[in-house]
Amino acid sequence: MSFIQKHQILERSPTLLFAASFAVVSVGGIVEIAPLFWLENTIENVEGMRPYTPLELTGRDIYIREGCYVCHSQMIRPMRDEVERYGHYSLAAESQYDHPFQWGSKRTGPDLARVGGRYSDAWHVDHLMDPQSVVPESIMPKYAFLANTPINGAHVADLLRTHSIVGVPYTEEMIENARSDFLAQADPDGDWGPVEARYPGAVFGNFDGQPELTEMDALIAYLQMLGTLVDFSTFTPDASR
Ligand code: HEC
Repeated sequence: MSFIQKHQILERSPTLLFAASFAVVSVGGIVEIAPLFWLENTIENVEGMRPYTPLELTGRDIYIREGCYVCHSQMIRPMRDEVERYGHYSLAAESQYDHPFQWGSKRTGPDLARVGGRYSDAWHVDHLMDPQSVVPESIMPKYAFLANTPINGAHVADLLRTHSIVGVPYTEEMIENARSDFLAQADPDGDWGPVEARYPGAVFGNFDGQPELTEMDALIAYLQMLGTLVDFSTFTPDASR
């Protein structure tokens, strides 16, 4: 029997063909997935990564609520065009405290994984109030109402505690001070020292420029820290993995 004839046996029986295809396809799955069950940790610990500040975490919730992820990804792939445009490719550790993660696959707008520090707070205010005022061809919707929506952090300690339940290493001290840290970060006259000590690399200031603390402040605090925690001038990947 020639090879072609043998193959006909397989092709003429749907059950056999299905079983054989399944066996072939499984190999790829097993090779990729099985090792994950034996690796102790799939995320390399990277210096600089820390949980979000209470204000950033609140901003992140607003980001999710408003569906910003529908148009923006937060994952720079290790391809040359992406790295040249957005900066160092994203590390797993950079989303280790994200519940849920914001990697995304849809880019109607640019990737935001490293947008922190790229623009001034005032630019973000103008852009969120009316994107077309700074980028005339933009199709991004207006989010001006965020600047009229006051927030006071009444439940922010619960928010931190919820994240700690799913594994984010918030300490009791962080949870106890959540509300005062939340208020201090956006207060130009606030006591920034203890917040900076608990959350190194946090950015401070009156983000939206108005006296009242609003959702706009929280969202900008979040945007301004994205991708800024790891120092890529000293970062070297762990080659043993
Ligand atoms: C309908 C799709 C859409 C949605 C929803 C959307 N954006 Fe955008 N965004 C864009 C587009 C397109 C651009 C590029 C043009 C511009 O800068 O406005 C952009 C640009 C940006 C930029 C500038 C990025 C850069 O590197 O220049 C930021 C920051 C941003 N968006 C934040 C947000 C946030 C925060 C939200 C949610 C509150 C949001 N976007 C929702 C489409 C969207």
